[in-house]
Amino acid sequence: MRWIIAASMVLATAAGCSGSGDETTVEQPDRGTIGIAMPTTKSARWVGDGKSIAQQFELLGYKTDLQYAEDDVDKQISQIKAMIAGGEKALVVGAIDGTALKDVLASAATAKVPVISYDRLIRDTPNITYYATFDNFKVGVLQAGAIVKALKLSSTGGTDNIELFAGSADDNNATFFFNGAMSILTPYLKSGRLKVVSGETAFKTVATQRWDGAVAKKRMQRLLAGPLRGTKVDAILSPYDGLSRAIIEALQENGYKKLPVVTGQDAELESAKLIASGIQTETVYKDTRELAKVAVQMTNSLLLGGVPEVNDEKQYDNGVKVVPTFLLQPVNVDRTNYERVLVDGGYYTADQLAG
Ligand code: GAL
Repeated sequence: MRWIIAASMVLATAAGCSGSGDETTVEQPDRGTIGIAMPTTKSARWVGDGKSIAQQFELLGYKTDLQYAEDDVDKQISQIKAMIAGGEKALVVGAIDGTALKDVLASAATAKVPVISYDRLIRDTPNITYYATFDNFKVGVLQAGAIVKALKLSSTGGTDNIELFAGSADDNNATFFFNGAMSILTPYLKSGRLKVVSGETAFKTVATQRWDGAVAKKRMQRLLAGPLRGTKVDAILSPYDGLSRAIIEALQENGYKKLPVVTGQDAELESAKLIASGIQTETVYKDTRELAKVAVQMTNSLLLGGVPEVNDEKQYDNGVKVVPTFLLQPVNVDRTNYERVLVDGGYYTADQLAG
């Protein structure tokens, strides 16, 4: 999205941020404050998202009010209320529970504050203007693809055992990830090439409330002590690095030396290190700097009376309307390409990965 970068450079220069050494100060236009409501600082990715969004807005001359709600839904609602009451110009919201913001967003609409749904779709309300995210179905396709590749499922063989984990049921993305993965895994389950030994395959049963690693670890421990006792699990479909690491811990504590194939998402630093050392098999990298740029550009365009660019007007029905969306592409990362994607791409330094 070259034009976004170009636009920010123009505005940054106009705001006296050219870094040219020229002492002339150009008065910063008062563009008002943007409220940025993020779910939690417990996950590295959301910390990065918040920082990138705030930086991008500041480059355009906006002030920012960045709030984290630590996965407490009521706290997020109060934060959003305060943003609206404080006269903030627009809101960018990464929801904790995508179904819980209906009332507070009705107040945003009354106050004419546009709301961008960030990464997670806010449901059951007409009061979101645009949605910026990654191709969430494809995330699941990539995770399952990594399992197919690592277990060589497309060549004939016996039965490999898999266990399925999904994300938080109140996060619209979780269903998309799961459906994407199952679109690839189902034929292998049907043919018997793959087997879920626990028999736990329904989304609701395998979902992990609040994406909490402790919840996933407990479930893995229960499976290992119960249905998986005496058998070997060959693959774990895990939708997010924070869960993958917790599941890996449970497996290691259970005595697994040769770990199963374990997928993930977000390319969190701790998981990138596990991929480098061959412990976690895969993650799905989503460049959150790019997502931040898209959300900021959407907001800026709206505030300037323009029409934000979108590339999907079909997939994201929030129960009230189909929300115009800009989808970015997720990237599969494993041991063969993590340096090229994550280090050469400037997401991490080689030192961070080595540390
Ligand atoms: C999802 C998001 C994932 C992951 C997960 C847990 O909504 O799309 O990238 O971060 O939440 O935080």
